[in-house]
Amino acid sequence: MNQTLTEKELQKQEEITDLLKDILFIRYGNQQPKAFVHTYGCQQNVADSEKLKGMLLKMGCILTEDKNEADIILFNTCAVREHAEDRVFGNVGQLKALKKKKPSLLIGLCGCMMEQQHIAEKIYKSYPYVGLVFGTHVIHKFPELVYHAVTSGKRLVERGYDDGEIYENIPLHRDGSFKGWLSIMYGCDNFCTYCIVPHVRGRERSRRPDTVLQEAKAMVQAGYKDITLLGQNVNSYGKGLSEQTSFPELLRNVAEIDGDFWVRFMTSHPKDASKEMIDIMAEYGKICNHLHLPFQCGSNRILKQMNRRYTREKYLEIAEYAKSKIPDLSLTSDVIVGFPGETYEEFCETLELIRQVKFTSLFTFIYSPRVGTPAAKFPDPVPHEEKARWMAELLKVQEQIAAQRCAGMVGNAYRVLVEEQAREGVLNARTQNNIIVEIEAPAALIGTFQNVRITQARNWILRGCLES
Ligand code: SAH
Ligand code: SF4
Ligand code: F3S
Repeated sequence: MNQTLTEKELQKQEEITDLLKDILFIRYGNQQPKAFVHTYGCQQNVADSEKLKGMLLKMGCILTEDKNEADIILFNTCAVREHAEDRVFGNVGQLKALKKKKPSLLIGLCGCMMEQQHIAEKIYKSYPYVGLVFGTHVIHKFPELVYHAVTSGKRLVERGYDDGEIYENIPLHRDGSFKGWLSIMYGCDNFCTYCIVPHVRGRERSRRPDTVLQEAKAMVQAGYKDITLLGQNVNSYGKGLSEQTSFPELLRNVAEIDGDFWVRFMTSHPKDASKEMIDIMAEYGKICNHLHLPFQCGSNRILKQMNRRYTREKYLEIAEYAKSKIPDLSLTSDVIVGFPGETYEEFCETLELIRQVKFTSLFTFIYSPRVGTPAAKFPDPVPHEEKARWMAELLKVQEQIAAQRCAGMVGNAYRVLVEEQAREGVLNARTQNNIIVEIEAPAALIGTFQNVRITQARNWILRGCLES
């Protein structure tokens, strides 16, 4: 498909959107329909939901936070672990009563889970009140899918295929007004043996650098203060594009945009994270001193089984280089405990790596087998209760490290972005290195940069006061 065809496709969707404005208005009692969108999973899904919301607004809908009053309910689902899928099934089950009360309610399920055939089939068979099921590859066709669902009165399942295209200019409604996501690429080519993402998100493809830069500039002009560049593996940004470019170059160009803002990015893959990228992080004050660099496991044998394509030594080398170059760096990571065949001794290598690197925080997961991934077929003799014990041990180690790190910040001054109300009179602010500080301040400061001095650390919760 070439550029004109994707443009034509989006024009068709715009025309259908116009038709839908009247169709939906009449269907929902001569009122603007109310749409509820709930997002499960990672920032990729959050970014997709922002497109779905953008398209819903163009169809004349009002967004609501209350599913009880909604005319259209969309769940954007995540398939990364069994627990994530179970939550979706549970929550979809609860919608049955709402559909009974309001037969015109349109319930749609989309996102990563729906890209798996066995799940789409299960939904179709067991949840007859779900009217629309669609996968991640057909988001740009959302208006057409809604149109068919409401005009045919039939249930619709549309899973499409990965056509390798990037559909630019889909309407977008960002959730935040000063913190925003900016997708720079989609999909993943890495095929870690445990992971469903490449199977449900398709092949890796990068947006053109001029398009990304334009969007970043527009965000800065619109007042965004904290912009996160998004991709499953940002370090391989640019692969397959006709122009020569790279992630470090993109990062530099974003940081060169005029204005008072911060830029972050995620996720970095240790096999591709370069010293050049770290040097650029160190060079620009606008690039946050936070690096999310998932190591997954500290044992080389297991890393190989995971197809991660780096060793523990390579990971430590890049982590140490980053720490030495970037003052006050926060390193965060993802860890999987209990990969099939992992022994307690191998798990201890993970603990050792955590002690050595001293991460600011960790996202920790017990391995969850995913249908269609190679690891799901590996022998997995360690019982879940044993893995849960390992996890508890890991969390204890990490808690101590995080508490020490926070205690070390007391007395220091930081520039923070004030983000939200924590409770009456108390706001949450975030440092560049991604640590939350509670401050007593008026809500009017939300969305502004401030300077704070850390006055107290209780475990990993920091308190601070404003400085002039
Ligand atoms: N692209 C990112 C991660 C995306 S998924 C990266 O490579 O780092 C987010 C995290 O979920 C992964 O880092 C991994 O720690 C976890 N994860 C993925 N599949 C999993 C599985 N089958 N079981 C448990 N955790 C899993
Ligand atoms: Fe999954 Fe690995 Fe791709 Fe991350 S890099 S999304 S863990 S396959
Ligand atoms: Fe989940 Fe899909 Fe993200 S599987 S973690 S929402 S890419």
